[in-house]
Amino acid sequence: MEKMSKCKVCVTGGAGYIGSCLVKKLLEKGYTVHATLRNLDDRSKVDFLMSFPGADTRLVLFEADIYDPKTTEASIAAAKSIAMSCVRSRSVRRVIYTASVVSTSPLMEDGSGFKDFIDETCWTPLNLSYAYSNPNLTEYVVSKTLTEEHILSYGTDSNIGEVEMVTLPLGVVGGDTFQSYTPLSVALFISLLTNGEFTYQALRFLEELVGKLPIVHIDDVCEAHIFCMEQPSIRGRFLCANSYVSSSEIADYYRKNYPEHHVKQEYLNGPEREIKWGTTKLIEKGFVYKYDTKMILDDCIKCAKKNDDRSKVDLLKSFNGADSRLVLFEADIYDPDTFDPAIQGCDFVFHVATPLLHTQGYQFNNTTEATIAAAKSIAMSCVRSGTVRRLIYTGTVISASPLMEDGSGFKDSIDETCWTPLNLSFA
Ligand SMILES: NC(=O)c1ccc[n+]([C@@H]2O[C@H](COP(=O)([O-])OP(=O)(O)OC[C@H]3O[C@@H](n4cnc5c(N)ncnc54)[C@H](OP(=O)(O)O)[C@@H]3O)[C@@H](O)[C@H]2O)c1
Repeated sequence: MEKMSKCKVCVTGGAGYIGSCLVKKLLEKGYTVHATLRNLDDRSKVDFLMSFPGADTRLVLFEADIYDPKTTEASIAAAKSIAMSCVRSRSVRRVIYTASVVSTSPLMEDGSGFKDFIDETCWTPLNLSYAYSNPNLTEYVVSKTLTEEHILSYGTDSNIGEVEMVTLPLGVVGGDTFQSYTPLSVALFISLLTNGEFTYQALRFLEELVGKLPIVHIDDVCEAHIFCMEQPSIRGRFLCANSYVSSSEIADYYRKNYPEHHVKQEYLNGPEREIKWGTTKLIEKGFVYKYDTKMILDDCIKCAKKNDDRSKVDLLKSFNGADSRLVLFEADIYDPDTFDPAIQGCDFVFHVATPLLHTQGYQFNNTTEATIAAAKSIAMSCVRSGTVRRLIYTGTVISASPLMEDGSGFKDSIDETCWTPLNLSFA
């Protein structure tokens, strides 16, 4: 076999969460990569792929569309077309299909409960209605399951010849991304902190389908794909996840380690099931996972925080005139002096920033202490600047309540003389 790094590798869906990370890793390892996207005019996707080291000489982008990959028919047709294309190429040795654990549910055929293990022998019974599902999620289960079955059946099809078929049913993938937004699977993890109703429902759907949540880090996912590619010969189905946990265990980890966020009590009370993670196939082949549960969960938080910040910067920089007349500074009310550089040289200051939730770990005990200290620091900074003529503070009417001091009722008018009595308990 020639030196592997001389090989050309095709990645379909190259701009997606997993696809883009895989493309980057393949380039780093010296491979030449053919990646497909649906729209080569989408500069946001093309530009970030072409920014990867090595992309200028070893990345070639192609336009390709499966039509609607969530549709089972289209997904199977695409799998067949890709398999046939591999055979016709006379160069492709192996197809590695990014499958999903939605095809490996340990649910009993009659839906009466779960088997006590999950491994590569499990196939999701497609005749059931699944808890927390909706038509899109059910279609995803059917589509991923039947497509994976088809891919594996090509492996024993004499028309397909020598092309090896491998499927990697992945757990829920967490960790950072090169994309400028938080990938959906990362959003599923952090739904436990953000209370995202749609994403939390999807997480619970997966848990009810697969018994618990198999989870895996994006870096291990890409390494596992490349590992399967670099084997001299390999065929079949390999479950890919390094941890099998309940949503309440994830919620509990976030509650303990990220106390600045509120984790709803109901999220901590999810089901706890005794189902054995019974697969060792990938590990027996020699694959080593590098990321444990803690690393996966921590990297989901880092990814979401980074993308949240990046999308704010991108939004501001997209405004007309921003390129020449908008200067951004980093400043935090919990670190009041940090506003100083932004204020220097200005004529007017609008003080709009305010924390809505308390951030622990600073010298302030609550948001009141922090916001007063910041207001003082900003006012002093305005004075020191020698240029600022006016400071305009964005207050709120909740400080101007017409409630009587003794809480016995309301005054008959509300105006600037009103100040909310802070000694009352408010309804
Ligand atoms: N993330 C997970 O937790 C997870 C877990 C198990 C399995 N998987 C599987 O991993 C694969 C990638 O998932 P992901 O999380 O990376 O999702 P993603 O970020 O949404 O990426 C999906 C990719 O599919 C491409 N695509 C969508 N519709 C298409 C169409 N009609 N024709 C051709 N390409 C199309 C997109 O291409 P464009 O960029 O051109 O739009 C994109 O590159 C999927 O097969 C998914 O089932 C993911």
